[in-house]
Amino acid sequence: MKILDISHLTIRFGGLTAVNDFDMSVSKGEIVGIIGPNGAGKTTVFNMLTGIYTPTSGTIHYRDILLNNRQPHEIAKMGICRTFQNIRLFDKMTVIENVMVASHTRTAERFINILTRSKKMRKTEAAVESNAMTLLELVGLADYRYEYAPSLPYGLQRKLEIARAMAAEPEIILLDEPAAGMNDRETSEMAKFILEIRDMGFTVVLIEHDMRLVMGICDRVYVLNFGSLIAEGCCEDVKTNPAVIEAYLGKEVQLNASTRS
Ligand SMILES: Nc1ncnc2c1ncn2[C@@H]1O[C@H](COP(=O)(O)OP(=O)(O)OP(=O)(O)O)[C@@H](O)[C@H]1O
Ligand SMILES: [Mg+2]
Repeated sequence: MKILDISHLTIRFGGLTAVNDFDMSVSKGEIVGIIGPNGAGKTTVFNMLTGIYTPTSGTIHYRDILLNNRQPHEIAKMGICRTFQNIRLFDKMTVIENVMVASHTRTAERFINILTRSKKMRKTEAAVESNAMTLLELVGLADYRYEYAPSLPYGLQRKLEIARAMAAEPEIILLDEPAAGMNDRETSEMAKFILEIRDMGFTVVLIEHDMRLVMGICDRVYVLNFGSLIAEGCCEDVKTNPAVIEAYLGKEVQLNASTRS
């Protein structure tokens, strides 16, 4: 079942067309990859999907709801959450607090309740904490719950960011280069983790430069180059597509390699 439908999506910044006539659809339960050279427009697609940028033209439909012109918090509440290319955790919060903050967007408590700490509020808070704990156990971060986020090893900070996105209970999780800066072992663990997330029922859209990761776990891949879609399909088709090889000129080795360069 198709849950996300992007059609003719275009955005211009002054004279630069960062994304040009981009089409993409995502079905429930898929892991869909978006790849392309630096500056191709991948993150800009996520920024439009999450309401950070408003498209110049084209449409984004999530389950028949038009997302153009929606606010980021509305879109998150509807069921689309993301991580960022550069880690954005709350540095002065513990691991569990980072997750609890995200699930609070769901509980929609009135501010006055927070001030008065009503009985209902305390109950909600306990529920939020217990949900956060369950999630941390699920993703293997329970032992770190009282550590401050910046003290975690890099790979676990990335995992925590994803856990935080999961805490808002979205249907779709957008991951912007979750394996950036990771070594081979951490990258394989991330691949396994993304497959687990999918098995938990989340639909995943993944931007990633690491071809082995993308080709190893994605059901379908979209390839952007200078803002335009140059190929789309299953990993095997995309890997052998001449336009894709051309876009990655000099990087064919990386596209086909069995080990990461
Ligand atoms: N707010 C903005 N104002 C002006 N130009 C922008 C803005 N956001 C993005 N761009 C430009 O749009 C193009 C696409 O950027 P984007 O960040 O989407 O690329 P990317 O595919 O995510 O690249 P990378 O792999 O390096 O992360 C770039 O040329 C970038 O400079
Ligand atoms: Mg990017």
